[in-house]
Amino acid sequence: MEQYLELKKELWRYARKVYEQGWVSGSAGNLSLRVPGEERFIVTPTSIPYEILEPEQMVVIDSAGEMVFEQDYGPSVETPMHLAIYKVRPEVGAIIHTHSIFCSVLAVLRKPLPPIIEELAIYTGGEVEVAEYAPSGSEELAENVVKALGEKASGILANHGNLCVGKNLLKAFNLCALVERCAQIYLEALKTGEQIHPLSESSLQTALSLYKITREM
Ligand code: 13P
Repeated sequence: MEQYLELKKELWRYARKVYEQGWVSGSAGNLSLRVPGEERFIVTPTSIPYEILEPEQMVVIDSAGEMVFEQDYGPSVETPMHLAIYKVRPEVGAIIHTHSIFCSVLAVLRKPLPPIIEELAIYTGGEVEVAEYAPSGSEELAENVVKALGEKASGILANHGNLCVGKNLLKAFNLCALVERCAQIYLEALKTGEQIHPLSESSLQTALSLYKITREM
């Protein structure tokens, strides 16, 4: 158990940051990381409000979602979704699922976020797709999210929230900030009723070729 303490503290620190950003309230949302070199993962516990969350409460699980150590709180109900992504995306080292406001507006509209800003295309890999609705914690939601995510780094969960993946928690966290910011820009632009100018395919391709160098999942 002790050998995971530093990683648990790291996950807890980012959980607090996500809460402090206002991207979640109560115990909503969840985060996880892949333990380097092991078939184990650390996930935030289910249903504990962020204000009283402690590093020791982070849950170490195996690739079947079983708790490695006995503890009072089980892993997040979205563990199947986190594990499904780790299974098909070996380069992913961390996942952050939030209920941030502007992404959630897109989630209830079931409207994808087009790559209207170059850096969004660079860091997400293109349009942020909406995963088909399925209940929280279900295997169906896990499947839908894997499908919507594809090779990209961010997805929207219909009537629910969003999700960002990265090589580590810092990358996933910064991406959550970028996607939320772009969702706000997009929604503000839509409100004007004016035409939104999409980036041309060639400028997206230029951005994406740069992205291959800089994204470093
Ligand atoms: P957990 O507290 O189990 O992580 O659930 C929160 C949530 O947002 C489910 O999608």
